[in-house]
Amino acid sequence: MKSYKIAVIPGDGTGPEVVNEGLKVLDAVSKKAGFKYEKVMYDMGGERYKRAGEVLPDSVLEELRKVDAIFLGAVGHPDVKPGILEKGLLLKLRFSLEQYINLRPIKLYPGVWTPLKDKKPEDIDFDVVRENNEGLYVGEGEFKNKGTQDEIALQVSRNTRKGVERCVRYAFEYTKKRDKRKKLTLCGKTNVLTYAWDLWERTFQEVAKDYPDIKTDYAHVDATCMRMIKNPEWFDVIVTDNMFGDIITDLGAMIQGGMGIAAGGNINPKGVSMFEPIGGSAPKYTGKNVINPLAAICAGMMMLDFLGEKKAASIIEKSVMTVTPKMKSMSAGKMGYSTSEVGDFVVKHL
Ligand code: IPM
Ligand code: MN
Repeated sequence: MKSYKIAVIPGDGTGPEVVNEGLKVLDAVSKKAGFKYEKVMYDMGGERYKRAGEVLPDSVLEELRKVDAIFLGAVGHPDVKPGILEKGLLLKLRFSLEQYINLRPIKLYPGVWTPLKDKKPEDIDFDVVRENNEGLYVGEGEFKNKGTQDEIALQVSRNTRKGVERCVRYAFEYTKKRDKRKKLTLCGKTNVLTYAWDLWERTFQEVAKDYPDIKTDYAHVDATCMRMIKNPEWFDVIVTDNMFGDIITDLGAMIQGGMGIAAGGNINPKGVSMFEPIGGSAPKYTGKNVINPLAAICAGMMMLDFLGEKKAASIIEKSVMTVTPKMKSMSAGKMGYSTSEVGDFVVKHL
């Protein structure tokens, strides 16, 4: 029987509650699909930072390099200055473990309310491949004349040929494997950001030659936002840089029913990947048993798919699709069920 070592970082706020439900589902599905897994729990997050002043000790990072995957709840604590945990934990893990893809499925499940009138599950079903290690997220830049009237702040977007190419190649491979409409859209801003998007566009066109069966398309990021609302059915897979990917996947989360259902994977195809619900730590709902655990459950599903447990992943997805029509809403406190009841429901329908 296959066995995996999974590092679990419940993190802050509602992270631990949703991670619990995710693990409940993983436990149950492992028995049905015939695999084993060992959990290694880590307490990184706001509380540990407040207590010990450390965010991600090097020794922990070294341990994380040796696991099969990481399951993360949420980071962000009301008493910790914004940026410390986000940069020191989430981004540090993404960068150090070279998780250069952030894969975010935008899929409307049955019975889930979408703000897009007249759009149905068959219209909202695409994936965003977000570059996850470069762009504006590298933290390069400087102030000039700080604090004066002549102040200038520079924030660099770094795009390397290698970094762009591995991302674009992953997106083509992914579109091929997904095997739906076989269409890959590059989302950029070639009309204004003429260095970065020139490199992206050239790379995209060159890599496309290796994938004659994949249709290619280009949309500026602003037009992408427009289309995601007006014609989401146009999309199959979108590939884009780190910053645009961050923005359009929040928009994507809203049209698929909200943060309560949106999951993502930070992927290093040859290394250690990390799966997370993409919503934050939701301090105001913490400890109330009202947060939606489906995003975490779906992150667990993505993790199993990545590990090669395709059957287990599809069992989870079918169960989620049985549960969503029974829920009143995907929003915290309005589901008609508690966090743990939703988890139990998914387990029951596996
Ligand atoms: C996300 C988040 C992070 C990001 C933050 C918390 C640093 O918004 O995962 O999309 O900007 O990537
Ligand atoms: Mn984001």
